[in-house]
Amino acid sequence: MRSKLEWRKARLIDVAYPAEDVRAMTFAVDGLRSTFDPGSHTNIKVTIKGEPAIRTYTVLPSAAGTLKIAVKLHPNSRGGSAFVWQLQPGDETEMTEPENRFELSWRASHYLLIAGGIGITPIYGMAKALAARGQSMRLIYGAKSRGQMAFAGELSDSLGAGLQTYSQDDGESFDLEQEFAVLPANAEAYICGPHGLLEAARNLWQKSGRPMSRLRFEVFGDSGRFIEQPFDVEVAHTGRSVTVRADQTMLDALLEAGVDMIYDCRRGECGLCAVSIVDASAVVDHRDVFFSAEERHEAQKMCACVSRLCGGRVLIDTGYREEAAA
Ligand code: FES
Repeated sequence: MRSKLEWRKARLIDVAYPAEDVRAMTFAVDGLRSTFDPGSHTNIKVTIKGEPAIRTYTVLPSAAGTLKIAVKLHPNSRGGSAFVWQLQPGDETEMTEPENRFELSWRASHYLLIAGGIGITPIYGMAKALAARGQSMRLIYGAKSRGQMAFAGELSDSLGAGLQTYSQDDGESFDLEQEFAVLPANAEAYICGPHGLLEAARNLWQKSGRPMSRLRFEVFGDSGRFIEQPFDVEVAHTGRSVTVRADQTMLDALLEAGVDMIYDCRRGECGLCAVSIVDASAVVDHRDVFFSAEERHEAQKMCACVSRLCGGRVLIDTGYREEAAA
């Protein structure tokens, strides 16, 4: 099971709108340990359709004793972004001590940072930290429009020519293959953005022959292919059946039903929550970055924390056996 989260009382003290559909919120948080690195994330308790849930967001640089997050109001939101958007200054919730699974190595001679849309949130802190230390770096920042580029003005002031922005609405795009081709041998790339961008980056990086350990990425959001629908899960060897609502993950639904699950990142990265697919009556919408494209195509396993079925029913095997655990 996941390591125990350290929850802290958090009170919203400031709200700003750094881009269209992006709300930045600063919380005063009780008992926070002193500092955290760029790329760190926090968990926040939210309420979705009257039910308690947990959402994870990157923490942005902010004053001591506070945590700042920036959240895009997503049309496909399962309800987490809608909840935090309606919070008003003075409202209280709980947040966790930040953790970091998307750390800068500080060992490269050059850093290529790539952000797609709201994927700028971890990249923003990294860019500021690298610029403050005078490191060689370049930031590529793409979004649907310039109005949707949070923090672009501030980053432009800090990075100057080190920032390049691309707006889809203006017909602009960047060539990742070319970007990778001109990097020095010991350069590293850090990417956060939609699933398609991460997939393309991973494939092109592999094709370039560079060590995969020098490509770091963080996934968020949906696959961009399907809208969430409810579906049913049956757990083999237990006969237990669970309905996964459109606004919850399969992992949450299974845990709520008391099914023993192993998990950690909840973001489709670590693969710990993977379950075997015995039978599925609809298409599996894979939203992880753990499995390869071939493995996803074979659809023998799925990450319960992010991936889902497009309606219908799936029979899974969690691999857990009571007699083995006894
Ligand atoms: S918990 Fe890490 S991939 Fe699901």
